[in-house]
Amino acid sequence: MAPWMLPLFLTLVFLQYSPSSCAKFQPRYFPSSIIHTKLQSLPSNNKLYKTRYFTQILDHFNYNPQSYQTFQQRYLINNTFWGGPKINAPIFVYTGNEGNIEWFAQNTGFMYDIAPEFKALLVFIEHRFYGKSIPYGGDKKKAYKNSKSLGYLSSTQALADYATLIVDLKNNLTAMDSPVIVFGGSYGGMLAAWFRLKYPHVAIGALASSSPILQFENITSQYSFNNIITQDFRSESENCYKVIKGSWDEIKEAGRTNRGLELLRKSFHICENYISGGYVEGWVSEALIYTAMTDYPTPSNFLSPMPAYPVKQMCKAIDNPKLGNNTFAKLYDAANIYYNYTGNVSCFNLLDNSDPHDLGGWQWQACTEMVMPTDGNNKESIFPASTYSYTGRAQYCEAYYKVQPRPTWITTEFGGHDITRVLKRFGSNIIFFNGLRDPWSGGGVLKNISKSIIAIVEKEGAHHVDLRFSTNEDPEWLRDVRKREISIMKGWISEYYQDMVDSHAY
Ligand SMILES: *[C@@H]1O[C@H](CO)[C@@H](O)[C@H](O)[C@H]1NC(C)=O
Ligand SMILES: *[C@@H]1O[C@H](CO)[C@@H](O)[C@H](O)[C@H]1NC(C)=O
Ligand SMILES: *[C@@H]1O[C@H](CO)[C@@H](O)[C@H](O)[C@H]1NC(C)=O
Ligand SMILES: *[C@@H]1O[C@H](CO)[C@@H](O)[C@H](O)[C@H]1NC(C)=O
Ligand SMILES: *[C@@H]1O[C@H](CO)[C@@H](O)[C@H](O)[C@H]1NC(C)=O
Ligand SMILES: *[C@@H]1O[C@H](CO)[C@@H](O)[C@H](O)[C@H]1NC(C)=O
Ligand SMILES: *[C@@H]1O[C@H](CO)[C@@H](O)[C@H](O)[C@H]1NC(C)=O
Repeated sequence: MAPWMLPLFLTLVFLQYSPSSCAKFQPRYFPSSIIHTKLQSLPSNNKLYKTRYFTQILDHFNYNPQSYQTFQQRYLINNTFWGGPKINAPIFVYTGNEGNIEWFAQNTGFMYDIAPEFKALLVFIEHRFYGKSIPYGGDKKKAYKNSKSLGYLSSTQALADYATLIVDLKNNLTAMDSPVIVFGGSYGGMLAAWFRLKYPHVAIGALASSSPILQFENITSQYSFNNIITQDFRSESENCYKVIKGSWDEIKEAGRTNRGLELLRKSFHICENYISGGYVEGWVSEALIYTAMTDYPTPSNFLSPMPAYPVKQMCKAIDNPKLGNNTFAKLYDAANIYYNYTGNVSCFNLLDNSDPHDLGGWQWQACTEMVMPTDGNNKESIFPASTYSYTGRAQYCEAYYKVQPRPTWITTEFGGHDITRVLKRFGSNIIFFNGLRDPWSGGGVLKNISKSIIAIVEKEGAHHVDLRFSTNEDPEWLRDVRKREISIMKGWISEYYQDMVDSHAY
């Protein structure tokens, strides 16, 4: 299994386990079961923001007049809590990641929760090539046609978009002196951290939540991602780990015969008449990966509706003594927690490749600069042993897009090697939050780098749990994480105001 081409959240392209099959597999995203529950859950007319469009330059880095094409970039804005330009009240900007920005705005309640206290303006900017921010006149077919058009999809262009839009918006609001803090989770968190490093004159600080900026090249072990998933399940129960670990051979075995395949179809309530064992493996792994990532302490509906502590719930299903030694029945019950928690799904559609959150562009990013080796599995892994294959990816990208990835570009552009030593003397005002139950935390910044480049590490936490809307059921550790983040950001803002006073004195 190779989650490399999957969006950080929604790592959902299915690869067969064997790298040699790489060129053949079909990329796909959420099974329709989840999509439907999810679409139902989206508010039809949101009351969280107003939607606006900004005429954005397609290519920030070329002065050939043909590069002066523009496109409409969507952003969401909420000025209800803003103190306004007279008091230089702050502006909180979410640097959008690989998907529809509305979805991220709805899942970044933290910004809403703290806006009144900071009197902050809230802005959520959509990443180019995602959601409604599609170049080539909004024509997705044209924009995604080939490498010529997709060439404009990169993190560097996206950061330049954010800078351009923020500066223009501040001018329009006559709020040039309002301090900006950028927020982001996952890939959006990487963008937030990099934005602070590249555009310190535009943002005074960044809250980068669950941003695996060290998951490149060899900086982080290729085994770390799956080791953390393994640990998540194993720490619930040794039996749970053993059953899952033993299940892959059983699935593979069943996949060899028609009778076995029929058993898989029946056991897992699969819609399709024909599936292969590989698809079932992929479908089960996907449930495990995403459940580990979103192992939140309260019921949630980010990737799919789930109970509080879903890993615990999955292991409970697997450890259920009533199911004896029936591995498929156990896995089916566990998978239902991720794919069918509402109980509304009539059968599981393993071949559906619809993409309700518009995440499709990630595949291009994974084939160019986002080369994040996470697919290694050592002997102890809950998944079958395997090693990351760069060659497999390069072949796929050549076949699909006729491009070769540039696996060392990200560290060349943004750094990453020896980050402690480098950032100790450069950069300031970044919070790196990581929850250690999140498989991406292995590639995160887990140590304090300087007085103002701070790592907040929470062993109970999952993927950007801090950015979620607060609830009355939030555990003490989560309240504490948010309190620390708020207090650090307050410090940045008061320092900024002090610096304004000081600089006016000269
Ligand atoms: C801003 O968000 C709040 C919810 O926190 C909502 O009540 C308000 O209507 C929103 N304002 C705008 C302008 O969308
Ligand atoms: C600023 O105002 C101009 C003129 O009305 C408008 O075209 C532009 O889109 C605005 N910028 C933003 C970021 O909304
Ligand atoms: C990773 O490390 C190995 C061994 O040190 C080396 O052969 C390989 O080229 C490195 N890969 C990258 C992408 O740096
Ligand atoms: C499961 O248990 C049944 C009876 O309890 C037994 O016949 C069967 O061989 C067992 N299967 C495995 C794979 O252990
Ligand atoms: C099934 O979905 C509907 C919305 O379409 C929802 O009202 C209902 O509560 C769901 N059923 C269950 C068991 O969750
Ligand atoms: C989803 O859950 C409901 C309620 O438990 C169940 O009746 C239904 O069969 C499940 N769907 C699938 C595909 O197994
Ligand atoms: C980083 O420093 C802060 C205090 O400034 C502390 O609260 C936090 O625990 C430290 N983080 C780590 C990972 O040691």
